[in-house]
Amino acid sequence: MTPIVAPFPAARPRRTRASGALRALVRETALSPSDLIWPIFLMAGTDSETPIPSMPGVTRRTVDRAVAAAREARGLGIPALCLFPYTALEHRTEDCAEAWNPDSLSNRAIRAIKEAVPEVAIMTDIALDPYNINGHDGFVEDGRIVNDRTVEALVRMALAQAAAGADILGPSDMMDGRVGAIRSALESEGYQDVAILSYSAKFASGFYGPFRDAVGASGALKGDKASYQLDPANADEAMRMIARDLAEGADMVMVKPGMPYLDICRRAKAEFGAPTFAYQVSGEYAMLTAAAQNGWLDGDKVMLESLICFKRAGCDGVLSYFAPRAARLLNG
Ligand code: PBG
Repeated sequence: MTPIVAPFPAARPRRTRASGALRALVRETALSPSDLIWPIFLMAGTDSETPIPSMPGVTRRTVDRAVAAAREARGLGIPALCLFPYTALEHRTEDCAEAWNPDSLSNRAIRAIKEAVPEVAIMTDIALDPYNINGHDGFVEDGRIVNDRTVEALVRMALAQAAAGADILGPSDMMDGRVGAIRSALESEGYQDVAILSYSAKFASGFYGPFRDAVGASGALKGDKASYQLDPANADEAMRMIARDLAEGADMVMVKPGMPYLDICRRAKAEFGAPTFAYQVSGEYAMLTAAAQNGWLDGDKVMLESLICFKRAGCDGVLSYFAPRAARLLNG
């Protein structure tokens, strides 16, 4: 495309910026509640919520309150929730067996939500870290995170989530070969319609700190995740990971974190054209919220600005803890 630009003053680019009406007419991208996936944290018990100090405004909620969140999402036009369990210490073990327990907190929440609010899609997280005694996404043997035995466990975890009624599975573990293994198990066990939104380009990021507080993994984690999550310096490698996941049967792909990785979002959409999502992670939420609480930023303004930037970069949607607040604002 060759833009034709008249010289000034025939062209005055400010003409199309001069009023709200003109700006609305020429706006290139739009943000709507239907672009949002709302991540929520689960805890045991009934009828209660506890605040997460490093994520002001975000709580852990009991299953009945998660059902209430799903009703709220339906009312706001948010199409999907993503569930993350806070696992009690006694359910964190070396064999991670709670990960595929049909009656685990998240599997109970999936069933309860699908029963009460079937229109809202439920996305899950597939990784062993909420159940692992050492906080890692995979099994640890002699200080190393082992791949293939972890993938077998992730497949069991995926099948338990599919059996509970999950609509979208989100492998967030970054093990090699997991998407293909999960896809073929879903096919052979009768879950052909369960979608995979793969955390394909998941970077070893410092921005996950508040999330690890929220799910109780901060204290547990021994070492870091650099032997499986991507090096923040690498963009070509991120493209190779996305290509592999799509070739193994992922329906949708994700870039994570979001704001510092918009170049990865842009390239992913341009190179593959697949449904592409960004995860605006806990640390991004914490930064914006903390600055707003100090009066240093206008919270609503930076929230909507950060979300539209994902659309502009080429994303089809965004996982964000701001989802309900942004949807309320967008709905007027
Ligand atoms: C765990 C997982 C993490 C997040 C989502 N799934 C943390 C990690 O990899 O340590 C982070 C989400 C956030 O920071 O909001 N597999």
